[in-house]
Amino acid sequence: MNEIPNNEANGSATKGSMPDDGNAANDKVVVIEHLKKSFGALDVLKDINLYVGKGENLVVMGKSGTGKSVLIKCMIRLLDPDEGKISMFGKDISTLNEDELNDMRQKTGFLFQSAALYDSMSVRENLEFQLRNSKRKRDEIDALIKEALESVGLPDSVDKMPSELSGGMRKRIGLARTMILKPQIVLYDEPNTGLDPITTREISHLIIELQQKNKTSSVIITHDSECARITGNRIMIIDKGLCVAQGTYKEMQNSENEWVRSFFTKTD
Ligand SMILES: Nc1ncnc2c1ncn2[C@@H]1O[C@H](COP(=O)(O)OP(=O)(O)OP(=O)(O)O)[C@@H](O)[C@H]1O
Ligand SMILES: [Mg+2]
Repeated sequence: MNEIPNNEANGSATKGSMPDDGNAANDKVVVIEHLKKSFGALDVLKDINLYVGKGENLVVMGKSGTGKSVLIKCMIRLLDPDEGKISMFGKDISTLNEDELNDMRQKTGFLFQSAALYDSMSVRENLEFQLRNSKRKRDEIDALIKEALESVGLPDSVDKMPSELSGGMRKRIGLARTMILKPQIVLYDEPNTGLDPITTREISHLIIELQQKNKTSSVIITHDSECARITGNRIMIIDKGLCVAQGTYKEMQNSENEWVRSFFTKTD
């Protein structure tokens, strides 16, 4: 078995692993080459190169405003790059027609930074909304909703309104909604923002569980070094539009670059 390094100290239970015949070098779900994106005079991404292997969790870190959200929005063509090439599942996404683009988006889960649920819709309706374009029968939809809610530990919340849920519960429902279509890759934009340290840890472990259960690849943007340690097979730091460092959590922690190390200094 070809294992991806994982940073959890004591954890076969949280270990990310490659499929039996997997090979990180030629089994890439995402490949980004020389990505450039500016807004007017603001050069946000200058030359980003990265890949995500099948079943791998890539954590992306960097200062606020450095372009992390812009990066993952480019990956699902919510934003168009100025230059460079993004391949998802082996296809250059700039060449996809509408059907191919929809297919790519079906395979790609996206947990937005705000993870907003629709406040006027119940949990069931929020999850159903995600399935609106898939021609599934009622009992199939019910089964998918049940499975998704069970996977995030909230099976009894199906008829609740978002206002009845805590912030951590809302994040979990957001995660259930993202996972309901069993995406092959999930892009998480700050999955832990605004949560207490314990809930933050729970969400990080949930990300690993879902990765293992569905063999999902992930890109996880986070400011939280513990989330990076728990979830990341590989960590990449972006600064001034460039990838300035990458490696395992341990390698980052022991980086010769003091600024890189500073991301991983425990503050709590
Ligand atoms: N649609 C847009 N139009 C113009 N400027 C934008 C747009 N989206 C992002 N920006 C700018 O690009 C820069 C990077 O934004 P981005 O949201 O990617 O930062 P970030 O690294 O995700 O920050 P944070 O950690 O605070 O979430 C910011 O200066 C932002 O104002
Ligand atoms: Mg952001």
